[in-house]
Amino acid sequence: MDNQAADIGLIGLGTMGANLALNIAENGFKVAVHNRTVEKIEGFMHDAGPLASQLVACDTVEELIRAIKPPRAVILMVPAGPVVDEYIATLRALMDEDDIVIDAGNANFQDTNRRAASGAPFLGIGVSGGEEGARFGPSIMGGGRKVHWDRVAPILQAIAADYQGIPCATWMGEGGAGHAVKTVHNGIEYADMQMIAEAYGIMRDGMGLQPAQIGDVFEGWNTGVLKSYLMEISATVSKAVDPQTNAPVLDIILDRAGQKGTGRWTAIEAQHLGVPATVIEAAVAARNLSSRLQMRQKGESLFGAAPQRLAEGQLTIDTLGNALIAGKIMCYTQGFELLAALSAANDWTLPMPEIAKVWREGCIIRSTMLNDMANALAESPDANLMFSDFFARLMRETQTDLRQTVSLAAQSGLPAPALSAGLSYFDMMRTSHSTANLIQAQRDFFGAHGFERRDAKGAHHGPWGSNS
Ligand code: 6PG
Repeated sequence: MDNQAADIGLIGLGTMGANLALNIAENGFKVAVHNRTVEKIEGFMHDAGPLASQLVACDTVEELIRAIKPPRAVILMVPAGPVVDEYIATLRALMDEDDIVIDAGNANFQDTNRRAASGAPFLGIGVSGGEEGARFGPSIMGGGRKVHWDRVAPILQAIAADYQGIPCATWMGEGGAGHAVKTVHNGIEYADMQMIAEAYGIMRDGMGLQPAQIGDVFEGWNTGVLKSYLMEISATVSKAVDPQTNAPVLDIILDRAGQKGTGRWTAIEAQHLGVPATVIEAAVAARNLSSRLQMRQKGESLFGAAPQRLAEGQLTIDTLGNALIAGKIMCYTQGFELLAALSAANDWTLPMPEIAKVWREGCIIRSTMLNDMANALAESPDANLMFSDFFARLMRETQTDLRQTVSLAAQSGLPAPALSAGLSYFDMMRTSHSTANLIQAQRDFFGAHGFERRDAKGAHHGPWGSNS
């Protein structure tokens, strides 16, 4: 082994870590690799083929540190949580003062804030794109001190996806900024997936379409405004056939979806900061509900199945597609509002147009619409996305279709929680005279909390007298 030859180190050779190491190696950098279960290192080196010459296999963390050129950088691709803290402690004891630890897992950004606060060089980077992305070009959302980011940026930008020659690897801000952006990315991912699943449900149970026909619809949508990676893979999985039974794969998959928690974190942060992220919250709740299979079965035996067929021609595929467009705009409007609140609460200056740009390629939510969002946010970074000229026009064009879809779905018992949340958000956002005057009166009645008057300044109380 050529001592101190590697450009960077990587610990954790699970699927994501292994693919990231191969990606770095393929881009001409030498990577020292280590895994806690050392047998895995041997298999990884064997599978690396010709790229093995760019990899330095290290059985121990000490060996890994010795193999990297100083000042060093070591990427951790290990399960989020205490394992990250354990490795940081081990590495710090062996590293020089200016060596950088990079957590590339899906960390809770509050943990990253805490880890960065120790002062030792630390970057928290969100890496999106799944296995394929890690191997051939993920979207990378960086956080930590800019000087440290700048030191490793040449490697991260080389391995990232690129959008028309622009690398999708961007520094978002200090501390946990990168992981915060990745968390919101995942919240949006949940909502995007849920809304596509709702459209699938409406087509399957409301229109009686077969999976392959639904796949054709998704494929059609994937040529227009809704063009996205998630739409593309929804088409592929809808058309797939199970080799064992020859049945459509979708028909044999149990309707119970797991989750690792990033969508939930997004909803929790939104609640913490008082941001209405109702589309994302509905998607997280829908995933939670999906896991309650036995309860749902009991519910169906008690009340009968909810979904009823729509009448022929009642809802067109175009109307449904437009509903998805409107729902998606509401979801991203909320996502960017949450990012703005996170930015303010953490003393970051999250670069909104750059976030839309870094999501244009490589990540799971990549889509054509993100380029339009990048343009809209570049024009007015602080404005609500749905008020930008481009998206306001799209909302005017599609909102009646969202309304028609949601109301027909409700009448036919076809659950569409995320699309419905998007519609309610839209209606509330365009209402200058809401019903919160009654809430204020109620609060004043039972708690003397006071209220504002429409015709005078200051705090006032109602004429509730002894009732209050
Ligand atoms: C990505 C994905 C990735 C992972 C999620 C899945 O951006 O590449 O979001 O991070 O697939 O962790 O999340 P759930 O298990 O919560 O669905």
